[in-house]
Amino acid sequence: NANSAILGATTPGAAVQAGEAASLTILYGSQTGNAKSVATQLKDQAQSRGLAVNLVNMADYKPNNLKKEKYLTVVVSTYGEGEPPEDAENLHEFLDSKKAPKLEGVKVAVLGLGDSSYEFFCQTAIDFEQRLQKLGADVIVERADLDVDYDALATQWINSALDAFEPELSAQSSAQVIPMATLGGAATTSQYNKQNPFAAELSVVQKITGRDSTKDVRHVEISLEESGLTYTAGDALGVYFLNDETLVDEIIALTGNSAASEVTLAAETLTLRDALIEKLELTQSYPGFVEKYAQATNNAELLALTEDKAAMREFIEPRQIFDIIRQYPATIDAQSLADCARKLQARLYSIASSQSEVEEEVHLTVGVVEFDIFGSQHLGGCSGYLAHRAEEGSKVKVFVEHNDNFRLPANPETPIIMVGPGTGIAPFRAFLQERDSQGAEGKNWLFFGNPHFTQDFLYQVEIQSYLKSGLLTQCDVAFSRDQAQKVYVQDKLRKQGEQVFSWLEQGAHFYICGDANRMAKDVHQALIDIIIEHGGKDAEQAEQYLKDLRSNNRYQKDVY
Ligand code: 2AM
Repeated sequence: NANSAILGATTPGAAVQAGEAASLTILYGSQTGNAKSVATQLKDQAQSRGLAVNLVNMADYKPNNLKKEKYLTVVVSTYGEGEPPEDAENLHEFLDSKKAPKLEGVKVAVLGLGDSSYEFFCQTAIDFEQRLQKLGADVIVERADLDVDYDALATQWINSALDAFEPELSAQSSAQVIPMATLGGAATTSQYNKQNPFAAELSVVQKITGRDSTKDVRHVEISLEESGLTYTAGDALGVYFLNDETLVDEIIALTGNSAASEVTLAAETLTLRDALIEKLELTQSYPGFVEKYAQATNNAELLALTEDKAAMREFIEPRQIFDIIRQYPATIDAQSLADCARKLQARLYSIASSQSEVEEEVHLTVGVVEFDIFGSQHLGGCSGYLAHRAEEGSKVKVFVEHNDNFRLPANPETPIIMVGPGTGIAPFRAFLQERDSQGAEGKNWLFFGNPHFTQDFLYQVEIQSYLKSGLLTQCDVAFSRDQAQKVYVQDKLRKQGEQVFSWLEQGAHFYICGDANRMAKDVHQALIDIIIEHGGKDAEQAEQYLKDLRSNNRYQKDVY
């Protein structure tokens, strides 16, 4: 019965029973949802070829089921310094452990997603492939490591992967006919998405740090009216932006071009100037640009960098793309210049509002990236646009990026602990608005930190009124530079260790948002220490305690 085959195929963890068609298991490990959406596309394509598939989030996958697999695809992203997404951590570790089963005869394919501006590009996918191979699996499709601009290549890889799996799978099963009605995803509420963003009105861009602050943080309000776009607290907003025209004109001059020269990008013809302003990445640098520009300009110094990974990192780190062109100007034709840069990517911001409170608006908390180097001011691409170039009332192209890995507890009575220093406060403003409008009875505890109380207490008035109304049960603040010794959110957590542990024991969900490299790691360590000290556990048991929280979706991170 084809219907039940499909139902079976889409039920996570469904075991293949004797006599049933061989199926392809697709395991995905996703942080922001990209790997999940590519894995879903793979599933849909496989089903439209009549293949049985089983799509599973790695977080929900029982590693012992590996023994039963015959055909396996892994779609996984990498973040930070070569690390797996949270949901992939356990399986990633398991495959490298003594407990991992032999996988001889298992046919596998791995697809990596990542960002080539990071050093350990697609490292997690590389690890998965190596570990599976080491266990004896046969790689039947060449791994692809996809960069931020992955859409077209993902489709291509999916087709070749299915070409490889299809004969294997259909040889094992009698051909299946899938009723068309069961295909296709759920109806979407809006026609707008990453590929087709909505031109939304930018209503408010307001600086919310003080004039003497070391930081420029903006509260941004955007109207989603007429878009049909909806979001849930915990989601992110993708924002497209325009590059700085002054920089674009400088680049055109430095490369001996004229603004009106025509270039073709993905089958679209437009002027070089428009391409540089609207379509191409000019701020965030990455090795791929240097490689292409080195070749296009035949520059010996840049070519040498492409041979030396460490030197490349060091070169890229302080530079935006226009810095590289400024330093190594060369006459090249318009199309070659355009071909050096990758497609401009939307920036994702954690949404700082709940629709139950702001209806058709969406709010963001944007930290403006700003630094002086090589004798000139540098601004982040999107934050610079929002804060300095886009006018209030103008249109900005946006889409909603759902994030099921960062959600309030289903039960409004469940207590929550939120750790969000700096702009990490954003999703917690959304959570608090949401809990407020739900009339949620659960306790809410916020940890916030920033350099100075007088300059950097983001949303101070709102937070104080939530304390007054009782919505916020407790709020602990760490103003790091208001005293001789630095005080951070993790110090405040440790201080409150006994109570933090007691909330966890009462079933609290624990959330971290903000800096991934240092803060989130330090907060994790503080939690471990708290569980050891107040839970009477050893280090290993404390790690296990947090792993259990995570598998119950009670420990969630939105870190960048
Ligand atoms: P600092 O800049 O004074 O060192 C938001 O950026 C806040 O996070 C700032 O107060 C910053 O302090 C602080 N911060 C910096 N490193 C941190 C870390 N490892 N853990 C927690 N907070 C940190």
